[in-house]
Amino acid sequence: MTLKYKKSYRFAIKSTSLITIFSIVILLFLQYLFFEINFFFTLVFAVLFFVFSFFVIQFRVEKFIYHGIENIFNKVSILDKSVLRSNPITTDMQTLMSEVNKFATDKKIEIESLKVREEYRREFIGNVAHELKTPLFTVQGYISTLIDGEIEDEKIIEKYLKRAENGVERLIEIVADLDMITKLESSELKLDVTRFDIVEAFKDVFDMFELKAEEKDIALMFDKENYRKIFVKADKEKISRAIVNLVENSIKYGKPKGTTEVSFVHLTDNKLMVRVTDDGLGIDKKHINRIFERFYRIESSRSREVGGSGLGLSIVKHIIEAHDEHIYLESKLGSGSEFSFTIQKSAMS
Ligand SMILES: Nc1ncnc2c1ncn2[C@@H]1O[C@H](COP(=O)(O)OP(=O)(O)OP(=O)(O)O)[C@@H](O)[C@H]1O
Ligand SMILES: [Mg+2]
Repeated sequence: MTLKYKKSYRFAIKSTSLITIFSIVILLFLQYLFFEINFFFTLVFAVLFFVFSFFVIQFRVEKFIYHGIENIFNKVSILDKSVLRSNPITTDMQTLMSEVNKFATDKKIEIESLKVREEYRREFIGNVAHELKTPLFTVQGYISTLIDGEIEDEKIIEKYLKRAENGVERLIEIVADLDMITKLESSELKLDVTRFDIVEAFKDVFDMFELKAEEKDIALMFDKENYRKIFVKADKEKISRAIVNLVENSIKYGKPKGTTEVSFVHLTDNKLMVRVTDDGLGIDKKHINRIFERFYRIESSRSREVGGSGLGLSIVKHIIEAHDEHIYLESKLGSGSEFSFTIQKSAMS
């Protein structure tokens, strides 16, 4: 930090002048009483007295202030003492004021950011507890009923065990999502960038969701038939995870007999735009800005029905941004949504 220290002599000059004037008056008065008044002697005395007093005041006061300020700097360890060392402290109080003001501003910013972080932490823990509660209580409910031993029908016992198992699976899913998001947010997760075919990655995800899509009679397709391979450079596992979340959402929030369509746009020689479009529920404008926040869900009756923790899209955003790419959303309530993201093409594709 370079602070300009303005050397000010005003204080010393004013003080010296006052003392000199006072001394001359006394000297003239004494001369008048006991000797003759000698103007030459008085003038020499005045000059010498002025110069001597000026140096004493300027440098003594400076030293005094320096020690005072050094004490403050020592006590308030956050103030940068090296600033003191490298610059002469002068009688100019502005320097001290600007340092103290800077300190106060820095402190205020630090306190504000701590408050925000604390709020964020509290909210995060609250959300986690809330998300874990539902499946935990479900599991506990079924297990307690089974332990009571009043149910003898094997089919019901099996049904309850299956439901408890589903609950446990949901818990594992949430914990895995939380783990992923924590790692992504603390940038702990390193990308394992390889060259892979993104069309193939989508085909794998389509296979994975075949049954779920069939349940709602939703067609999972590409905009063109027989897409040739498109090679990209990215972390295959994480991009696949993002694709899973987007395709899963398009089915969860898609309308029955609807379509999920994937298309690719070659933006430049090395940039590809990947689009996942559905003709489902759509998202109202007022939610679009917040939809990528973690735990953010649209509390419509449909969303509540299908369940979810609101972590899916924030994971997608983190993954895309970890690749230094962008994610976009265009949606109209009632007509459908289009999530698109950019990705690095591999030169050899
Ligand atoms: N394709 C879509 N069409 C309509 N609404 C969507 C779509 N994708 C997401 N949404 C809305 O955005 C919200 C957040 O989605 P997100 O994937 O983050 O969480 P989720 O699906 O509720 O839970 P999960 O963590 O299991 O993915 C959803 O609750 C839903 O309301
Ligand atoms: Mg989701």
